[in-house]
Amino acid sequence: MRRLRTRLIQPLLREQTLRKTDLVAPLFVDENASRPVPIPSMPGQFRYPPEMIAGAVQRLSIKGIKAVLLFGIPRNKDAMASEAVNPSGVVQQAVRAIKKEVPDVMIATDVCACEYTDHGHCGIVGDTPCGLDVLNDPSLELMARIAVSHAEAGADLVAPSCMLDGMVGMIRWALDDAGYAGTGIMSYSTKFASALYGPFREAADSGYAFGNRSTYQIHPGNAREAVRESEIDAMEGADILMVKPGGFYLDLVAEIAGLGLPVAVYQVSGEYAMIRAAGERGWIDEKMIVMESLICAKRAGADLIITYFAEDAAGWIDEEQ
Ligand code: PBG
Ligand code: ZN
Repeated sequence: MRRLRTRLIQPLLREQTLRKTDLVAPLFVDENASRPVPIPSMPGQFRYPPEMIAGAVQRLSIKGIKAVLLFGIPRNKDAMASEAVNPSGVVQQAVRAIKKEVPDVMIATDVCACEYTDHGHCGIVGDTPCGLDVLNDPSLELMARIAVSHAEAGADLVAPSCMLDGMVGMIRWALDDAGYAGTGIMSYSTKFASALYGPFREAADSGYAFGNRSTYQIHPGNAREAVRESEIDAMEGADILMVKPGGFYLDLVAEIAGLGLPVAVYQVSGEYAMIRAAGERGWIDEKMIVMESLICAKRAGADLIITYFAEDAAGWIDEEQ
C-alpha cells in the first residue's frame, strides 16, 4: 500500500475533498438584540439583531459560504408559538433582508416551535396518558403554517426539526397548496435525543420547562429506528435528509446516504463547544480537528455539512490551496 502513499502519488488519489459549497452556516437572529450578542457556550458565535443579519451573511458570502440555516429568537413567547407564524416575525424579516441584500446565498430556515413556545417544547403540548407532552397531530398544522410563512418570506429550503410524525408530508402538501411547489424541504429526518444540543438551547433560548425531548427524538442507541425515520421522510417528499448530531452518528450518515436522496449532517453546538474549548486550552489542534471532522463527514457520505465552523473552515480551505 505504501507505493501509493508517496508524497507525489498520494495527492492524486485523495478520495474526498472539502469544498466551501459543502458547508452551511447556522445563524441566530434575535429580536431582543440591538447588537451582535456573543453566545457564552459557543465562543465565536453570536445572536444577530434582524437588521444586522444581512451584514453577517454578506461577510460569509465574501468568504465563499453560500448557504445559511436560520434560527429565530422572538421577543414574545406563548403556549401556541404565535410569533413563529407572524408574517413580520424575526425569521421572516431576516429572510427578506438577506434575499434583498445578499441574493446569491441559499437560505434554509429551521421550522420548529421550541424557540417560540414559553414551555420550550417543539410543538403544542397537552395532556397524554403519560403526562404533559407534545401532541403530534395538533402540532402538524402549526408546522405547516410556519413553513408556508417562511416560504412566503423567500426561504429556499424549509428545515423542519420538530420530529413530528407526518411533518414532511403535511408541510409538502401545505407548500404546494399555497403556491410554493418550488420550495424544498430539508428534513431533520434522523434526529437523536442528544445531550450535544446543550449549548444551542442557551443560544436559541429554547430549553424546555418540563420533561425532555425523548418522546419525539430518537434514543442514541437505536439505529434501525433512525434509518426508518429517514425512509419515512423520503417517502413523504423530503428533498434532503439529515442526520443530527454529526460525529457520533456517522454510521447512520453512511446508511442513510444509501436511500438515494442528498444527505446533510449537522455538526451540532456541543460538538462545536467541545472542539473550541479544547482548542482554546491548547489541548488539541483546533484547525486540524475541525478539518478532520468535516472530511470524515464527507467520507461517511454527507453531501452537506451544517457547521458553526463554516466560516473558519472557508479560511482554512483557502490556506490549503
Ligand atoms: C430545535 C433544534 C435544536 C437544534 C436544532 N434545531 C435543539 C433541540 O432539538 O433541542 C440543535 C442544534 C445544535 O445543537 O447545534 N428543534
Ligand atoms: Zn424544536
